[in-house]
Parts: sequence; structure tokens; C-alpha cells
Amino acid sequence: MRVTVIGTGYVGTVTGACLAYLGHRVTCVDTDQGKIARLQRGESPIYEPLLDEILKLAAQRGGIDFRTELEGAAVESDIVFIAVGTPPLPSGEANLAYLEAAARAVGAALDTSRFRVVVNKSTVPVGSANLVETLVREGMVEVPAEERRRIRFGVASNPEFLREGSAIADSLYPDRIVVGSADPRVIEMMRELYAPLVEQKFDAPPGLPRPAGMERVPLLVTSLTGAEMIKYAANAFLTLKIGYANEIANICERVGAEATEVMAGIGLDSRIGAKFLNPGVGWGGSCFGKDVSALLHTAHEYGCQARLLEASLEVNQAQRNTVIQKLQEKLFILKGRTIGLLGLAFKPDTDDLRDAPALHIAERLLQMGARVKAYDPVAAEACAAQHPELRIRYCGTVEELAEDADALVVVTEWAEFRDLDLAGLAKRMVSPVLVDGRNLYSPEAATAAGFDYVGVGRGVRQPVPASSGRSRG
Ligand SMILES: NC(=O)c1ccc[n+]([C@@H]2O[C@H](COP(=O)([O-])OP(=O)(O)OC[C@H]3O[C@@H](n4cnc5c(N)ncnc54)[C@H](O)[C@@H]3O)[C@@H](O)[C@H]2O)c1
Repeated sequence: MRVTVIGTGYVGTVTGACLAYLGHRVTCVDTDQGKIARLQRGESPIYEPLLDEILKLAAQRGGIDFRTELEGAAVESDIVFIAVGTPPLPSGEANLAYLEAAARAVGAALDTSRFRVVVNKSTVPVGSANLVETLVREGMVEVPAEERRRIRFGVASNPEFLREGSAIADSLYPDRIVVGSADPRVIEMMRELYAPLVEQKFDAPPGLPRPAGMERVPLLVTSLTGAEMIKYAANAFLTLKIGYANEIANICERVGAEATEVMAGIGLDSRIGAKFLNPGVGWGGSCFGKDVSALLHTAHEYGCQARLLEASLEVNQAQRNTVIQKLQEKLFILKGRTIGLLGLAFKPDTDDLRDAPALHIAERLLQMGARVKAYDPVAAEACAAQHPELRIRYCGTVEELAEDADALVVVTEWAEFRDLDLAGLAKRMVSPVLVDGRNLYSPEAATAAGFDYVGVGRGVRQPVPASSGRSRG
């Protein structure tokens, strides 16, 4: 099929590349000339493992090109995806300005030559698909009324569930595809588009074998509103799961239990499942916070009090602050201390810093008068460019980070941090304090390497023999 994808961010670029890999002919459109220029040169505008390789294969298979103008591409297309950003406004509502501009531009670009599907892939508040239809029509104002009546299109909501860092695997081997629409023609075209994914009838790309046992991907057809709710409900549930693990971990610290053991124990329950139960410094990223806030906003608009959602945001904010508390417990005074952050990106394998816990932690430390150094294998340059207000000293190596530091904090669990020479790092520091915000290291190994170690939810202490201590006499 002939497909246009509007927006070449984390979602649009991956969607376009994967659809072309599956054999569709794809044009990606963005108003950001810099991003389009990079893509035209064969460079990915974002750090995402395997994306460069898939873009090359996409060009050879279905074919993919990148433009700043929508008109020609939309006219040639059967399906036009909208995958622009919907960042949060200060009120928590989603900012729909980009979506509105994109949908109007689609309306202005359509002609009468064929029936088209306008697919909304951006995460949008419940009811936005109706809005997209209205906006596409509004975009046709310049078209003569007679022609306008003959322009045929339908709208689908097709929420995206990819995770940055494993976006290509998530797109080619998804758990499910959700298509919201009440229009049989739209549903039929979406089924045709996704048939290679549903049937898994494509060669696995090099380096990304098809997961064992994966035969068919469920394609769930829902109402427009149902599809929009599924996206929010899924993300909100994941924040609750992580928040729950963090809250239990905090209790483990007090009662003397090891949270990783506790999570393994509850995760084996098939009703619970092991994923998203890793205690840490809290979740971040471009989606969770904004989606929970937007869902809360919708709930309030309809007079619903969503207490769990409110708590989820509060618990996560508090969890980020536990890093500061742990540093205070170890160092007492933070003013004038040098704290080294291991990792800046909100999670490993991405350069995305949106709502990253590291930013919050760095800001708090700087406010408290500490010096902040940071090392991130990928996201340091982006952090310096996007957050000039944070006076962070960026280090080129982990050794430079440790040099003369009073404490190290593991904020992002990059794979390369797992194999650090802890003893060598401890020797370079003023005081070898390690706040392991991702439970990357075994407390025993870190302690043996010379660190004063504290993890998350690791309350196990050496038991005091019952016979020791003074007997009551
Ligand atoms: N990033 C994720 O992991 C993820 C996962 C699932 C869903 N989503 C949702 O997908 C949507 C896109 O997210 P993202 O992370 O890719 O955003 P992004 O900010 O990385 O990319 C958005 C792109 O849209 C472009 N754009 C804005 N207005 C435009 C217009 N009128 N015409 C053409 N291009 C325009 C921007 O220049 C930018 O390149 C959001 O609604 C987000 O909530 C994101």
C-alpha cells in the first residue's frame, strides 16, 4: 500500500521504517527541516538500536523517502498516519496544537482520486478521533464546495505501544495491534496494511530474530474511543505496577527484606507477572507522566475522581526524592559535595531525556548546593543542548566521573554499567558512596569493592545472633 507518515520522531520514523520494511511504499513528512535533511542523508534523527539498519532495508524493500511537504505524498497515499507529538501543557492536558496543524494539512492535501484512511497514531485524549475528522474537513476550506463533497476519507485510531530502546522489535513483533474505527472500509484497509504483521509473513531482519512461538499477532478492532482509552489505560497501569514495586521496596528497606526477592516471589504469580516490577528511582520518559496526567484531566472533566492515577503520579515523584534522602543519610551535608550521576537518559538504549528522573535529581542536588557531574554513553550531548539551565559537568568516561566525587548514583541501567571496575572507581573517589538507584550491583560485591552501598528496597542486614547482647538479668 502507499503510506504517508506525518512526524518523524520516535514513533513516526520507526513506524515508517517498519511499514516500508514490510513492503509498503512509505513517505515520511516532518516540518523540521533538520530532521528531514538527516533522514535524507541516511542518518537517523534519534538514537534507537537497529533503526539505521531497518531504514536501509526499508529503502530496498517497500521504499521510503523523506520530505517537508505533505501535498504530493498525501495525494498518492491510501493511508496517512499522524504521528506528531502531543506534549503536556502545564495543566496536564495534552497539547493538541501539532495534531491540529497536521490534520488540517491532511485536509488541505486530499483530492477526489481515491478513498483514504487518516490514522491517528499520536496519543490523544479520548474523543480526539472525532476531532481529527472535523479538522481534516476544516483543512479543506480552500477546496471548492462541489469537490469537497466528493473527497472520501475515514478516520482510525491506532495507538502505538512501542518502547524506546526496543522500538523495532516492538513494531515488528507486537503483543497486539489495536484499530479503532466503526467504518468497515477503514477496518478492511487497516487489516490489509497490517496483514504481514498479523500473519508474521516477513523475513526477520538480521539481528532481530522472530521470538520463539510467535505465529500470529492479535488485531483488536474497537470503537474509536475504546482505542484511545486502551492506550491511556495501558500506560497508567504500567505506572501503577512500577509505583507499587517502589512502594513495596520502600517498606522492604524498613522491615529488613530484599525487594528483588520479594518481586521475584510475587512476579511468579501468573496473575501478576514479573515485568515492570523492578524497584528503582521511578519511571520517566515522554509518555507515562503525560499520559497519566491527560487521563486524570479527562476523568476530572467527566466528574470522575481517579484516586489511583493521582497516587501514581505522587508516588513516582516521591520515589525520585528517595535518592536525595539516601545521599543525605550517607553524606549528611550535600552542599559543596560532588555527586556523579551514572546515566541521564530516562532508560537505557535511548537518547530521550523527556521527564527523565536524572533531570529532577540533578536539579534538586544543584538547588541544594551540590556539584553535579554526569556520564551517559549516549544522551550527554542532548542533555547539554536541551538543558543549559542545569550546570552539570559532563564526563567522557566513568573514571572521570568518579574522580574526586563524594558519591555515585546509578540513575539509568545502561548495560555497560553492569561490568564496571567498582574497586577502581571507589579508589578515585573522596568518599566511596554508591546509591544504586537501579539495583544493578549485588550489595556484597559493591561492599567488597570498597563502596558504602545502598540500593532500592535492599533492607537485608546481617542478622544479630539471638545470644549476643546483654542478657536481661
Ligand atoms: N515516544 C514513545 O515512546 C511513544 C510511544 C507510544 C506513543 N507515543 C505517542 O506518539 C506521539 C509521537 O511521539 P514521539 O515520541 O514520536 O514525538 P516526537 O516529539 O519525537 O516527534 C514528533 C514529530 O512530529 C513533528 N511534527 C510536529 N508537528 C508537525 C506537523 N504539523 N507536520 C509534520 N510534522 C510535525 C515534529 O517536528 C517531530 O519531529 C505522541 O503522541 C506520543 O505520546 C510515543
